[in-house]
Amino acid sequence: MSIAGEMIVVKDADALSQAAAELIAARMTGCKTPFRMVLSGGTTPVAAYRKLSRLSGLPWGCVELFLSDERFVPPDHHHSNYRMVRETLLADGTVQPRKLFAIPTDETPGSAAARYDEILRQQYGSSELEAGAPLFHLTLLGLGDDGHTASLLPGQPVLEERTLWAAAVPKGRDEPRITLTYPALEASVLTLFLVSGIAKRDALVQARGGGLPAGRLQPQGEVIWLVDAAAAGV
Ligand code: 6PG
Repeated sequence: MSIAGEMIVVKDADALSQAAAELIAARMTGCKTPFRMVLSGGTTPVAAYRKLSRLSGLPWGCVELFLSDERFVPPDHHHSNYRMVRETLLADGTVQPRKLFAIPTDETPGSAAARYDEILRQQYGSSELEAGAPLFHLTLLGLGDDGHTASLLPGQPVLEERTLWAAAVPKGRDEPRITLTYPALEASVLTLFLVSGIAKRDALVQARGGGLPAGRLQPQGEVIWLVDAAAAGV
């Protein structure tokens, strides 16, 4: 089963970051509280977060921010996605979200994942996902050149997790990871993939065809693939 969804191809990485910022801003505009938004980690969204932070008049007061995944490192570590968000979207203090839920990285990966899972259920207001009641309103995701998204890494047991909403991923990368799982990520009004660079070209084709971890995602809502020409191979 392939992931459907519109693919928007833009000229280059800068155009991608601008288009991403404008698309996110458009979706936020007029939002009802709470507007739960998942921020991707990695490097692709960095420029988009900076551009987004410079757009004025956005209703950040209704936005609750979450992270798609986190490396199990201290929050000031240079690998931390939370640190990346603080140094980009939140850097100059003009963006004041209603809430920012960083993924905890203390104690153990397992206990941190369990705490984040609980936060998600508390914010959702139920411990079970209900049809027609999305957990997230906008979910930003990247794509690894091995076809992972969030920290849904190839060959890891988390790919089979259909009950938890957040889970530890002890293996597959230098540091343990904590990630939102398929059921949590799929429960979104809009899933926006940001994909940049020739290195992602093959993974993009396979993922859109339903392959690799990213391709196994079955979003309930709208899907947009925002890619640059290098990744799209045009
Ligand atoms: C992370 C991300 C991850 C990322 C992809 C792409 O924590 O690394 O959440 O899923 O989106 O690995 O990473 P780049 O944008 O750096 O290519």
